[in-house]
Amino acid sequence: MLIDSYDRAVNYIRVSVTERCNFRCQYCMPEKPFSWVPKEDLLSFEELFLFLKVAIDEGVNKIRITGGEPLLRESLDKFIKMIYDYKPTIDLSMTTNAFLLKGVAQKLKDAGLKRLNVSIDTLIPQVAQHIAGKDVLKNVLEGVNEALSVGLKVKVNMVPMQGINDNEIIDVLQYSKKRGMTVRFIEYMQNSHAAVDLKGMKSEQLLQIIKEKYNFIDDGFDGHSPSHYYKLDDGYKFGIIEPSGDDFCKSCNRIRLTAEGNLIPCLYFDEAMSIKNAVKQGDIQGAAEILREVVRTKPEKNRWNDSEISTRAFYETGG
Ligand code: 5AD
Ligand code: SF4
Repeated sequence: MLIDSYDRAVNYIRVSVTERCNFRCQYCMPEKPFSWVPKEDLLSFEELFLFLKVAIDEGVNKIRITGGEPLLRESLDKFIKMIYDYKPTIDLSMTTNAFLLKGVAQKLKDAGLKRLNVSIDTLIPQVAQHIAGKDVLKNVLEGVNEALSVGLKVKVNMVPMQGINDNEIIDVLQYSKKRGMTVRFIEYMQNSHAAVDLKGMKSEQLLQIIKEKYNFIDDGFDGHSPSHYYKLDDGYKFGIIEPSGDDFCKSCNRIRLTAEGNLIPCLYFDEAMSIKNAVKQGDIQGAAEILREVVRTKPEKNRWNDSEISTRAFYETGG
């Protein structure tokens, strides 16, 4: 078991397999970055897997594959299967923009993937085009339908932005509810890579909008998730993630690995340690030591308030 200095058990790793993305979301990567990490600097699936085996042996039982857009990485299903075959009981999930999901959902499910988080910020094609920089909505929605039909569990992420999709809160909630998907509204996190003039919406504004349509009760935090849940009269739950808060830090169970092998103890924490040399040399002992050290240095709370605007790119760490 990996225990940090604040007595939290770390059992969850988010692995970014690429920082590249086929979308240019306003809040994440509106412009193509000046340079990508060269492909040869990315860890291979074998190298990532070597590290994940070490982590699983140390007690990790939850792994999320993220990006950038993870489906841009070839043969992702083989990577999923490597993890699944090593420990079939792993809670294995992926965060995707769903654009490339159609036609591969079954293959991902067969490989051992259990759950997906998908971004649906709008249900209007032109708005999707405005947010993601290209006409994406049809593919996204078809991808989501296919994922549901092959039996993958799907959660929806929406980042509400003033003047862009703030009139679609109820529509996205209803779309998700009808399909049995939990929706989580994520407060926009300011960062130096995002479009400069973006204005997010606050939790209170979102609750106000939903209150005009539905009764709900506060359902609190669920396990280790940063999402605060609310329950409608019919039992349906939606969530709101307030990244600027730190209520969820005391039950945080996660660390992050970037595609080039930087192991990051907290989303808002610039320190990281590289596992690259260790995994390239097949040094299992060395990788385990770095893992324990990163867990040991996990901060008590996120540093949202310390820095004005985060410079960390969410496309490196998968949000
Ligand atoms: N603010 C809030 N959420 C973000 N995401 C990415 N960038 C931001 C940001 N600046 C979230 C999106 C997406 C997930 C991958 O990360 O909700 O669904
Ligand atoms: Fe790509 Fe996701 Fe970032 Fe949008 S939020 S640019 S889909 S990584």
